[in-house]
Amino acid sequence: MEKFVINGGKPLMGEVTISGAKNAAVAILPATILAADKCILENIPAIHDVSVSLEILEALGAQIRTLGKNSYEIDTTHLTSTRVPDDLSRQMRASYYFLGALLGRCGSGQVAMPGGCNLGPRPIDQHLKAFCALNATDSVEYGMIKVQSEDLQGAHIFFDTVSVGATMNAMLSAVLAKGTTQLENVAKEPHIVDLANFLNMMGADVRGAGTDVIKIRGVEKLHGCTYSIIPDQIEAGSFMVAAAATGGNVLIKNVTPKHLEPITAKLELAGATVEEYDDAVRVYRTGDIYPCKIKTMPHPGFPTDMQPLMTVLLSRALGTSIITEGIWENRFRYVDELVRMGANIQVDGQVAVIEGVPELLPAPLRASDLRAGAALVVAALSAKGISEIDEVSHIERGYENLVEKLQGLGADIRRVEKPAAAMAKAL
Ligand code: EPU
Repeated sequence: MEKFVINGGKPLMGEVTISGAKNAAVAILPATILAADKCILENIPAIHDVSVSLEILEALGAQIRTLGKNSYEIDTTHLTSTRVPDDLSRQMRASYYFLGALLGRCGSGQVAMPGGCNLGPRPIDQHLKAFCALNATDSVEYGMIKVQSEDLQGAHIFFDTVSVGATMNAMLSAVLAKGTTQLENVAKEPHIVDLANFLNMMGADVRGAGTDVIKIRGVEKLHGCTYSIIPDQIEAGSFMVAAAATGGNVLIKNVTPKHLEPITAKLELAGATVEEYDDAVRVYRTGDIYPCKIKTMPHPGFPTDMQPLMTVLLSRALGTSIITEGIWENRFRYVDELVRMGANIQVDGQVAVIEGVPELLPAPLRASDLRAGAALVVAALSAKGISEIDEVSHIERGYENLVEKLQGLGADIRRVEKPAAAMAKAL
């Protein structure tokens, strides 16, 4: 087990380059199955969720060649299985994208039934609704969910709730279905558009991604292509908040400023300056932090994955901020850790009321999930003194080289192995 040891209180200064988007990569990697051919994927982040996706592809019979740290050739011509191994499937919720891709290509797919998680219940009823509308059936056997169809047919599907996962899975299963599919009330996140662009580059006919309605005309066959994944909106946003929270000045490179607008708007209200360039943003703060109100919503609203990070920033604002979580039932668990650092935050259901305090104090901390973990890193960077963060494997699921990138900005952060004795005690 590893932990981060952070000696905080220093402004972050310099330049950082953002990696490819996790939430695009975990859908596009399974999508290569649909090509039954060779795809070259570039700008793939070196993170745990990507390693798991690659292992799943190999277990299904794909041939993978590493072309560089962030690029792979994936040959899905000969698949040998349509069942995602249980142990791999359980390591990553996004393994459900293999259902849509396997159903589209092979007419059948099986993954472990995803349970709830640290963010609250995570149903997949809308994914299954889409598969069934496309003429597939679903069944659960010994903890595995199986979808199958001998004849996928296009359909008109209206989602009951806006879901990133269900929108992507419906796209994956519809591109090779017969006829036309119309998806309504879909998610509009940048990674939805990225998946559509990738599918179209493989020869699919997907229109409207990024709007409320996606139209897909089924095609007979897809082919391989070379594709570079978009920059990670949330990794970029995390560095933006880190720069603002530490009173630093950071040029964040390899970003799409348009994708960052909801984050930029709130950071500016909170007292940071954000300068936009073609594919970079500079964030700095020299004055006070001001309170603001935030409600997380599907894109283009304020992203839920940035909510814990903004809470950290606003915990030192001059006044009262209110954050309402509009997507997940249980996304304030990390607040207890911030309170141990001296923050004054009251949570009532989906709402956190944050009374700003002049400073956060260092403390031993525990990451409860990916974004909560990143938020604790930012909290520790802005608190003078040494904080230790446990369970950093959550953070490494989704941030490439976080320690090295922060060190490059002058942060005093180290990743250390927890001694065996301490581990035994903790168990
Ligand atoms: N929902 C349903 N039924 C469904 C699917 C979703 O009721 O069939 C509900 C969920 O319970 C939730 C809401 O709809 O209340 C939105 O869920 P969504 O399906 O959009 O989330 P997801 O696809 O499971 C992705 C990201 C999350 C991010 C959310 C929201 C991936 C791999 N994960 O999850 O990212 O929070 O969209 O933007 O893309 C993270 O990166 O840390 C992370 C948790």
